[in-house]
Amino acid sequence: MPTRIPVILDVDTGVDDACAILFAARHHGLDLRAVTCVGGNAPLPDVVRNTLTVLDILGRTEVPVAAGADRPLLEDPVDARHVHGADGMGDLGRTPSTRRPDPRHAVELLRDALRAAATAGERITLIPLAPMTNIALLLRTYPDVAQGIARILFMGGSAATGNATASAEFNVFHDPEAAAIVLDASADLGIPISMYGLDVFYRPRITREQAAELMAADPAGPAGLAGELIAFQCRRFATDAATIGDAGAVCAVANPEGLRTTPLPVRVELAGRYTRGRTVVDHRDWSGDLTHDPHGQSDVVVDVALDIAAERYAALWLDTIRGGR
Ligand code: RIB
Ligand code: CA
Repeated sequence: MPTRIPVILDVDTGVDDACAILFAARHHGLDLRAVTCVGGNAPLPDVVRNTLTVLDILGRTEVPVAAGADRPLLEDPVDARHVHGADGMGDLGRTPSTRRPDPRHAVELLRDALRAAATAGERITLIPLAPMTNIALLLRTYPDVAQGIARILFMGGSAATGNATASAEFNVFHDPEAAAIVLDASADLGIPISMYGLDVFYRPRITREQAAELMAADPAGPAGLAGELIAFQCRRFATDAATIGDAGAVCAVANPEGLRTTPLPVRVELAGRYTRGRTVVDHRDWSGDLTHDPHGQSDVVVDVALDIAAERYAALWLDTIRGGR
């Protein structure tokens, strides 16, 4: 049997974070080691409860879940419940989990899991799907954990447009300092880093009919939940199909051939009045003369996702949720 890829998700569950957890927990090629939580789409207590609820429905109660930062490093928290519902997960009326999370802070759970992996000669793929507050705190506090990280593939940022503002994607906008620290620390520590941003995020889509099939096949179970999450988004945006969102980033770990990435220098804008939180992706040809650029080249080179096999990932997500992969 081929070796499974060990992964940890850092989430702000979140309708599409739930889609991501469902996929990571069911894909045969992935070994979900832990899920850590951060305030973002919803306040932290809601994120933790939603995450535990998804894992309860999956029957994956052995996966440790820890609560982390309840606010950005500098900014005041601004959630996205207008997108994700009052409870942060679509107000589906599912019985909320009554389990308690792991007593450790998310940063401590990440530290312990990554050090254990390093000791065992393994490396874990870290998949942040939320503001990167926990990950910034982790890498600055315990830089030795880099020995246990294969790579970071984060959902956030964009090479083109924003969504939280005209310039900035929500996860980076929510905590720009954290995103800047994660990019800087990854370069310092030699951790390969990939950006699954808005350039590809919306493209893998599931139709209302496919959501209905999932709900009919397994109303109380994981497939039913997955269908309800997609149907919620279709209602919310009055569309016939909805993105799998954060789950696409996890698909890209399970099936990297479906994502076209280009290594490009990236910085996070921390100062701009209208551009704070923008990921400034440098597409220039660096063989030219840069002596007149006062900023120079970013030291951080990120594998930026610029194209995606969207239909392939949508099918992969559906098959995995149905139990086929
Ligand atoms: O910017 C897209 C938002 O929806 C992010 O919070 C992402 O993680 C998803 O939940
Ligand atoms: Ca998210």
